[in-house]
Amino acid sequence: MRLTIIGAGHVGLVTALCFAERGNEVLCVDHDAAKVARLSKGEATFHEPGVPQLLAKHGGRAVKFSSSTAEGTAFGEVIFICVSTPSLPGGGVDMRYFEAVSRDIAAALTSYRVIVEKSTVPIRTAEHVKRTVQRHAANGGRDAAGNALFDVASNPEFLREGAAVKDTLEPDRIVIGVESERAEKLMRGVYAGFSAPVMVTGIPSAEMIKLASNAFLATKISFINAISRICELGGADVAEVARGMGLDPRIGRHFLGAGIGYGGSCFPKDVDGLIHVAADLGYPVPLLAEVQRINRDQCAHLVDAVRDELWVLAGKRVALWGLAFKPDTDDIRESPALRIAAALIAEGATVAGYDPVAGANAVAACPGLKLASSAADAAAKADALIVATEWPEFTALSQNPASLAALKRTMRVPAVFDGRNCLDAAAWRTAGFTLRGMGR
Ligand code: UDX
Repeated sequence: MRLTIIGAGHVGLVTALCFAERGNEVLCVDHDAAKVARLSKGEATFHEPGVPQLLAKHGGRAVKFSSSTAEGTAFGEVIFICVSTPSLPGGGVDMRYFEAVSRDIAAALTSYRVIVEKSTVPIRTAEHVKRTVQRHAANGGRDAAGNALFDVASNPEFLREGAAVKDTLEPDRIVIGVESERAEKLMRGVYAGFSAPVMVTGIPSAEMIKLASNAFLATKISFINAISRICELGGADVAEVARGMGLDPRIGRHFLGAGIGYGGSCFPKDVDGLIHVAADLGYPVPLLAEVQRINRDQCAHLVDAVRDELWVLAGKRVALWGLAFKPDTDDIRESPALRIAAALIAEGATVAGYDPVAGANAVAACPGLKLASSAADAAAKADALIVATEWPEFTALSQNPASLAALKRTMRVPAVFDGRNCLDAAAWRTAGFTLRGMGR
C-alpha cells in the first residue's frame, strides 16, 4: 500500500521504516526541512538500534522524505499523524501541531483518505481532527455526490525506545479504532504483513487503551518504588520481594524494577495527560497524581542518600553514570538522571556525567553539568558515583574484578549509589566499595 507518515520523530520514523520493511511504499513528511535533508541523505536523526540499517535499506527507495503535507496527502491512502504532543506548563497536552497538520491535510484533500492518529493523544482527539478537517476542506470534506472524502481512525503505538524497531515489527497487539467499515478494511490491509492479534474497537476505546496501558505501567513502577521505601525501613530487599510477587501470573514480573523511577517522553506526559482528561471529564483520579509524586520523590530520595553519606554536598565531585532516561537511547526527556544532576548542582556539588550516547543532549538540557569523556574519566577523584541508567557498559563491570579495583583506586571516596539496582552488590562490595541500592 501507499502510506504517508507525518512527523519524522521517534514514532514516525520507526513506523515509516517498519511499514516499508513489511512491503509498503511510504512517504515520511516532516515540517523541519533540515531533518528531511539529513534523513534523505540516509543519516539517522536519533539513536535507536536498527534504524540506521533500515534507513540504509529503504531510504530513497521504499521510504522517501518530504517537508510538504500536501504532497503527503496526495501520496498515501492512509495518513498517520505522528507529530509531537508536548505537555503544557499547566499539565495539559499541547495539540497545536496536531491541529495544524489536520488543517494542512484538509486543504490538500481531493480523494478518499483515512487519517490516523498514532501519537498518544487525549481521548476525543479524533473527534477534533474530524471537525477540523470538515471545517477546512473544500465542500466540508465531501465529494460531488456528497460522500465523505475521509475517515478518522486511532492506531496507537506501543513501542519502547531502545527496542522500537522490534516492538513495531513484532507487536504484542495491533489496536485499530475506527468508525466505518471502509476505514477498517484499509487499516486491516496496512497490517496484513504483520503477525499479531488485531483488535478493532471504537475510536475513544483505542485512544483510551494507549493512555490506560501507559498509566498502568507507570503505576506498577511507582507501586514497587513505594514498596521499596517500606523495604528499606523494614529490612526487606525489594528485588526479592518483586521476584516473589512477579511469580504470581496475575501480577507478572515486568515493570517491577524499583529505582529512581520512570522518565522519557511517554509515562510522565501520558500520566499527566490522563490526570487532566479525567478531571476535565468530571472524574478526577488522585491515584494518578500520587503515582507521579512517588516517581519524582525517588530521585530526591537518592540525593538524600548521597547527602547522608557525604554529609555536605557543596564542593564535592559526584560522578553520574548514565544520563539517558533508559539504556539504548540518546533521549534525555524527563530523565531521572538529569533531575538528580540538577538537585546536586543546586547544592553546590560538581557533577561529572557520562553516557555512551546521550552526553551531548544532556549537557544542552542541564545547565552546570560537566561532561566526562568516559566512565573512568567521570569517576576520577569523585566523592561518590551514582549509576542512573543501566547501560551494559556499567553492569558488566561486576564481572571484572580488575576493572573494579582500578576504578576504586581513582575515586576519592568509593561510595556507589545504584539507582537502578543493576549492579552485583556482592562483587562491588568485595572490591571495597560501599554500595547503596534502592529498597534493599
Ligand atoms: C513506554 C512504554 O513501555 C511503551 O509501550 C509506550 O509506547 C511508550 O512508553 P518507553 O518510555 O520507551 O516506553 O520506555 P520503557 O521501557 O517503558 O521505560 C520507561 C521508564 O520506566 C524508563 O525510565 C525506565 O527506566 C523506567 N522503568 C521501567 C522502571 O523504573 N522500572 C521498571 O521496572 C521498568
